[in-house]
Amino acid sequence: MNRNPDSVIALIGFMGSGKTTIGRKLAERLGRDFIDLDSRIEESAGMSIPDFFKKFGEQEFRKIESATLKSEAGKENGNVLACGGGIVENPKNREILTGKCTTIWLDVPELELIQRLSKDFSGRPMLSGNLEERIKLLFERRFHLYASVASIRYSWREGETLQASVDALITLLGAEVDKLQ
Ligand code: S3P
Repeated sequence: MNRNPDSVIALIGFMGSGKTTIGRKLAERLGRDFIDLDSRIEESAGMSIPDFFKKFGEQEFRKIESATLKSEAGKENGNVLACGGGIVENPKNREILTGKCTTIWLDVPELELIQRLSKDFSGRPMLSGNLEERIKLLFERRFHLYASVASIRYSWREGETLQASVDALITLLGAEVDKLQ
């Protein structure tokens, strides 16, 4: 577990778990900067994630994703960083998330994710094909990986608002800091 107070706070979790929305609000409340890893990749590649997948494929995306995580986590500037849902599949990324970051897992039940993503799966190349089958397959593969790197697990419950989620995260972060002192 990382003990540096300036370590990056990395949000991980499945697509649709709210990493960007919650991360942005959390950063605001903590007075820190918010970085969305996917947006960083889009900026440096000069194209959208779906276009990148179409042009170069998933493997190339994973290389850039890994390099961007390494660079952002290495800054140790206390930023809040929203990671893509597939970040945990690479063992090197898992090492960075456990060694360099305070990593928060936004754990949202699979059924809720299916509902959320059915409404908005555009811009998510990993979900092309049968949506429900793709979610199930990736969820099964990734669930224990999220669990293995998270120093904080936030389990979202039905009806919890954005405000409630951010409040809960602030409490959990405070408890984590107390535990380390
Ligand atoms: C991916 C998730 C996406 C994005 C890319 C791959 C994945 O990010 O990084 O499309 O493999 O789960 P979000 O989790 O923000 O949708």
